[in-house]
Order: sequence, then C-alpha cells, then structure tokens
Amino acid sequence: MSATLTLIAAVSADGYISRGSGVPWDLPADRVHFRQYTQDKWLLLGRRTYEEMLGWFKPGHHPLVLTHDPKLIVPNGKAVSSVPEALRLAECQRELVCCGGAEIYQAAMTHAHRLIITEVREILGSGLAFPKISKQDWASVSRRSQARDDDHAFSFEIVTYQRIHRMDLAA
Ligand SMILES: NC(=O)c1ccc[n+]([C@@H]2O[C@H](COP(=O)([O-])OP(=O)(O)OC[C@H]3O[C@@H](n4cnc5c(N)ncnc54)[C@H](OP(=O)(O)O)[C@@H]3O)[C@@H](O)[C@H]2O)c1
Repeated sequence: MSATLTLIAAVSADGYISRGSGVPWDLPADRVHFRQYTQDKWLLLGRRTYEEMLGWFKPGHHPLVLTHDPKLIVPNGKAVSSVPEALRLAECQRELVCCGGAEIYQAAMTHAHRLIITEVREILGSGLAFPKISKQDWASVSRRSQARDDDHAFSFEIVTYQRIHRMDLAA
C-alpha cells in the first residue's frame, strides 16, 4: 500500500505562492485549516520551507525534508533526496502531505493524488509559482469559502482537487 500524496498550498489568483520569501498573506482561518489538516501527519517539505517553519512543528509531525545535503539533521524526521524516496519511506502511512515550497510542488506534482488549494483572491503579479492545475487532470470535489472581513484582508476558497484517472473518463 502506498501513501496518498496530497499537496497543500495557498495560491494567488494569478498562480503564485510567495513573493520570494515567506507566505504573502496573513489569513487566520487558513492557518487553522493548515494546522488541522497537517496534524499528526508525515510532511514533505523543501529545505527552504522547512527552515522557515522551524519552531512550528508539533510532536505528531514527521517531516521529510528534500535537500541535496544528506547530512541535514531533521529532528523527528529525515532528509530525503527525491520525492519517490519520500513516498517509499511513507509507505506505512495513509497520507503524505507536501507543504511546499515552489521547487517541491514542482517535483511532487506528477506524483500527487490530491490537491488542497487555498485560492486567495489577490493578484501578486510575480513571484514563486504553483504548477498549473490542468482541468484535464484534476477535478474539484469540494470547496469552502471565506469572505473578506476584519481578520481577512482577502477572501479565499479552499478547494480540494482529485486526480482524474483515465478509468474515470472512460466510465
Ligand atoms: N503559499 C504557500 O502555500 C507556501 C507553502 C510553502 C512555502 N511557501 C513559500 O515558498 C518559498 C520557498 O519555496 P522555494 O521553491 O524557494 O524553496 P523550497 O521548495 O521550500 O526548497 C528548495 C530546496 O529544496 C531542495 N530541493 C529542491 N529540489 C530538489 C531535488 N530535486 N533534490 C534534492 N533537493 C531538492 C533544495 O535544498 P538544498 O538547497 O538544501 O539542497 C532547495 O534549495 C518560501 O517563500 C515559502 O514561504 C509558500
């Protein structure tokens, strides 16, 4: 049994996840969603994102960090050199959740089964991009909206996509 690979990301209306460093939005309801979805799960992160998130991890997390440095020490987790290696290590799990950043989303997209995308209604104009979500390959199966309010400078929708398999299309 292999783990389902889920990519979770917050993406601007024009397809960006970051202006270059850090996440460009402060959206409390999205932070809660991210924390709840990733709770007690194995995570796959790029080394840059991992370092940005140091201090955030909880004892139930098991971070697998993609890096060219095999000596990187990852408390309660492990350094990995490829997405397939991470998937092999996570075979014992039901799910492996890929938390970015841009290089890792790019490397993991072809292996992904599910995408959970916070679609933020803001135009960034440039930055680090999330891979294109092709309608031929992905179907949205659920969505939840958050309106703009005093706590949220931008409205957003959290959309779950499942990969469309050829069998589904033939049916
Ligand atoms: N909006 C969102 O949802 C979201 C989510 C996550 C992150 N972010 C943002 O994204 C940005 C970081 O993204 P990023 O693309 O710069 O960095 P990243 O994907 O987090 O990490 C890049 C690092 O991963 C390692 N790596 C990449 N490809 C590899 C490969 N094929 N084999 C082995 N190692 C590989 C390298 O580490 P080494 O240099 O150690 O070899 C590389 O420097 C940050 O600004 C972060 O805040 C946004």
